[in-house]
Amino acid sequence: MIVAFFLVLVMCLSACHHADTPAYKDSTLTPAQRAEDLLSRMTLEEKVGQMNQFVGLEHIRLNSSVMTEDELYRNTASGYYPGYSISNVEEMIREGKVGSFLHVLTMEEANHLQQLCLESRLGIPCLIGIDAIHGNAKCYGNTVYPTHIGLACSFDTALAYTIARQTAQEMRAMNMYWTFDPNVEVARDPRWGRVGETFGEDPYLVSLMGVQTTRGLQEGGVLACVKHFIAGSQSQNGTNGAPADLSERTLRQVFFPPFEANVRASVATLMPSHNELNGIPCHSNYDLIENTARRDWGFKGLVISDWMDIEHLHDLHFTAVDNKDAFRQAILAGIDVHMHGPEWNEAVCQLVREGAISEQRIDQSVRRILETKFRLGIFEHPFSRAEIRDSICFCPEHQQTALQAAQQSIVLLKNENLLPIHPEQYHRIMITGINADDENIMGDWSEPQPEENLWTVVRGLHTVLPQADIHFVDQGWDPQHMSPTQVARAEAEAQKADLNIIVAGEYMMRKRWMERTGGEDTDRSNIDLVGLQNQLIERVAASGKPTILILISGRPLGVTYAAEHLPAIIQAWEPGQFGGLAIAQIIVGKVNPSAKLAVTIPRHVGQVGMYYNHLPSMYFHPYAAGESSAPLWPFGYGLSYSTFRYSNLKVSDTLPIRVSAQITNTSQRDGVEIAQLYIRDRYSAITRPVKELKGFKRVALTAGETKQIEFVLTRQDLQYIGPEMKPVFEPGEFEIMVGASSRDEDLLKQTINIDK
Ligand code: GLC
Repeated sequence: MIVAFFLVLVMCLSACHHADTPAYKDSTLTPAQRAEDLLSRMTLEEKVGQMNQFVGLEHIRLNSSVMTEDELYRNTASGYYPGYSISNVEEMIREGKVGSFLHVLTMEEANHLQQLCLESRLGIPCLIGIDAIHGNAKCYGNTVYPTHIGLACSFDTALAYTIARQTAQEMRAMNMYWTFDPNVEVARDPRWGRVGETFGEDPYLVSLMGVQTTRGLQEGGVLACVKHFIAGSQSQNGTNGAPADLSERTLRQVFFPPFEANVRASVATLMPSHNELNGIPCHSNYDLIENTARRDWGFKGLVISDWMDIEHLHDLHFTAVDNKDAFRQAILAGIDVHMHGPEWNEAVCQLVREGAISEQRIDQSVRRILETKFRLGIFEHPFSRAEIRDSICFCPEHQQTALQAAQQSIVLLKNENLLPIHPEQYHRIMITGINADDENIMGDWSEPQPEENLWTVVRGLHTVLPQADIHFVDQGWDPQHMSPTQVARAEAEAQKADLNIIVAGEYMMRKRWMERTGGEDTDRSNIDLVGLQNQLIERVAASGKPTILILISGRPLGVTYAAEHLPAIIQAWEPGQFGGLAIAQIIVGKVNPSAKLAVTIPRHVGQVGMYYNHLPSMYFHPYAAGESSAPLWPFGYGLSYSTFRYSNLKVSDTLPIRVSAQITNTSQRDGVEIAQLYIRDRYSAITRPVKELKGFKRVALTAGETKQIEFVLTRQDLQYIGPEMKPVFEPGEFEIMVGASSRDEDLLKQTINIDK
């Protein structure tokens, strides 16, 4: 009796406690319950506002002062709203007409925007989104890790998770909750400017690295966004946003798997691709979004448009007669959030009032958005504080991870007994090249960082060789406007040096958007070094002194002259803030390189469409006129200062297939070897690649040590998209390969017959 009395008392107390507090503010309720209550209180304008995203106020202030209106249309990174002042935008926010933001670069602005949102009638906090692609690198004072292509070359999925988790910590310290990452596009075309932003050409590696990134981000407390869905990396001419025309089989076999893997890992958001796919723009592609992602894969999250890509249905793809029609098409195709700008609000409200879109469809998106916000806890914790930011961003632990990631991402491509150098051998060192002493080493999606936080190669070299006589010949930052005088100076200095180092590559910094040669919207019609860089290499090499070429780039570069004439070549990709230190440590042998290529490096653009997992007939006829059909360097390839031998391959012939081999470090140096497992389905109803990566392991081996490595292949590992366009397993012969790269000469092979 007494218990019942107290139960009733508690229920009454809790009821009256909440009587004056709306249910959606009751954090003891579930996100779904809170969202339902809040939705029931919202006007149509407030609902449509939640689906809308704006760029940040400072972004508007900056760009409206430097960009003309017609520059606005073609720019995919800088925006503002002609006719709208900052105070107009602030008023819209207070009216609850903006649900999220992007390109907000400071915690102060994030807090300010949040405050404006909380002043709205229902006080719904906003989501601050940002492209935190390799650390929250657009924000000053945050940690900048290597970009994805370098990280993929580490084949270290645990490292991908750690970087993502640390990135999420720094983002939340900045009061930012949504990153538009991971990019899990399969990159097979180096003409495309965004290869550096991807995990390379292999669907299996891209899937694993992407999923670990998503997990790290979301377990770190922010929303991940898998992008770009789909095939922006495989447009017809290698340019970003150009049409992609791919068979369903190629989509399902090559391009879909990383997205499906991330959806099944519960990625919170998804971003369609700029381009059309087989005649239908991805931003109005109901089949892609609703059928494939939501129905087939079970995607439950938010679909956010890419930059003005809904409007591009009208002004680029011409499948919508005006922006209002474009909004209608995109919403009916399943898009929940519009990136970005004020035209959305009134047009979408009109569409609902006209019956072109049901309010039920709007509620579906708003429900997703609200539940997402409740799950993030930003109703209870809408702000961050400077002491939190200053204690987390660029903290020693994150710096150490960034340095380790740089060390593990740098690929040694060629070394004819030059590296590591012995300081006593080389007293006078000349270093030159556009990327020798520039912040550009951080790569695309980075903004300038405190100078003391940045390790260029020049700084790194002085650190590891304090006694050396180092002569830096500055070639400027801009590969398209190099000075012949400075090239001549480098040539002269090379004659006097004992060792020459050239740090070449591309220019990716967004602060000089139109002068870049690498990164988003810098697609090229060839993959040679831009400007006088090849001339610089040839004239320095002509000195006859040992010369090291270091490449800083996101895309593979066809450095054929250097490959033939220089004794040492390092592909450092975009190694981040600590890249210069890591490169210097590798040059002097403090670090033993271990990375291996996650993407093929062709000789030149004529070979493009060159990737390791090609179909059997790809090179049935090699090119004529002595033109090579082989890449400069293949997928999975990378040198170490150690040497390794593979032996004793053993493969069971029943499922699950157990694969084992031994690896011996045959050198005097401790090192790490990335062992790779490939399969080939010898005979099949549908053509199958000559090899497919199905496993890899980073194996640490001390000098002389031998270790056994083991892999397990399941029936699912052997499946492929069969004649019915569904995954099938076909009994028969399989070739199992283990070794140091995708090159046949680097692989132990055994053929088995799986007969059931
Ligand atoms: C860009 C990119 C996309 C990015 C977005 C916001 O156009 O395509 O990857 O997330 O705009 O910066």
